[in-house]
Amino acid sequence: MKVFTAAGKLNEFIDPLRGTKKIGLIPTMGALHEGHLSLVERGLEENDLVVVSIFVNPTQFDNAGDLKKYPRTLDADIALLKTLKGTILIFVPEAVELYQGTVVSKKYNFGSLENEMEGKHRKGHFDGVGTVVNLLFRAILPTRAYFGEKDFQQLQIVKKLVEIEKLSVDIIGCEIVREDSGLAMSSRNKRLSATQKEEAALISKTLKAVQKDFRKKSIHELNTFVKEAFASNPHLKLEYFEIANTKTLKTAFRKRKNSSYRAFIAAFAGEVRLIDNMALK
Ligand code: PAF
Repeated sequence: MKVFTAAGKLNEFIDPLRGTKKIGLIPTMGALHEGHLSLVERGLEENDLVVVSIFVNPTQFDNAGDLKKYPRTLDADIALLKTLKGTILIFVPEAVELYQGTVVSKKYNFGSLENEMEGKHRKGHFDGVGTVVNLLFRAILPTRAYFGEKDFQQLQIVKKLVEIEKLSVDIIGCEIVREDSGLAMSSRNKRLSATQKEEAALISKTLKAVQKDFRKKSIHELNTFVKEAFASNPHLKLEYFEIANTKTLKTAFRKRKNSSYRAFIAAFAGEVRLIDNMALK
């Protein structure tokens, strides 16, 4: 296991292998958990070596407090990655070097994808994500890059980014890894108290109930059900619940034949913002 802080040094290692070896990239902001490890394991299965980038990207935070409190656990992250077998390179860049100067977002046009849900509630978030993912892709030139479906909208945005930037990398979406309670694994869970963690399981429980009733109930009825489920829990504050078209991510008000849908929730447990989603059939 090697840790690199400079892209130049990382590439001195990778460049001789290009052409013969497949390189998987797992972009992360650290505070690694089982969900990240499952992405790294999949990357190791499908490639000859894997780069795990660990970088808390300032430009994707619309809230300075959230950026400051984002968990940073580099030593524990390295120890966790050491438990895996395979060639793993860890890339921990400095902001100014990665951004080649001023740490600002590029402005992207992700079409309608950027105006829904996370885009609506976190202004500039996807420009920040797009900017850093583009910089990482250009610095590392991976064959494949792995992203969790917990950030389903981010995954769609990254696919669009690859088109816009004409990048040659395969984007692989991977299933959400959950705690026994159903809570989607997230670095932010580290900021939850034991009680908040228990209460936060309501998010996935509600999504599961929506999944179960999707055929029977109208979208209006499901919206009401979710609002009521959260209103009766004083520990969680619902920011949004949406049933959206899987492709366009536009809010669905009515089910249409031959369209597929997903249910999305963003909610606060105290100051900690959590998101989750599930496919509806
Ligand atoms: O999903 C994340 O952890 C981040 O948004 C990413 C993709 C690493 C970009 O900073």
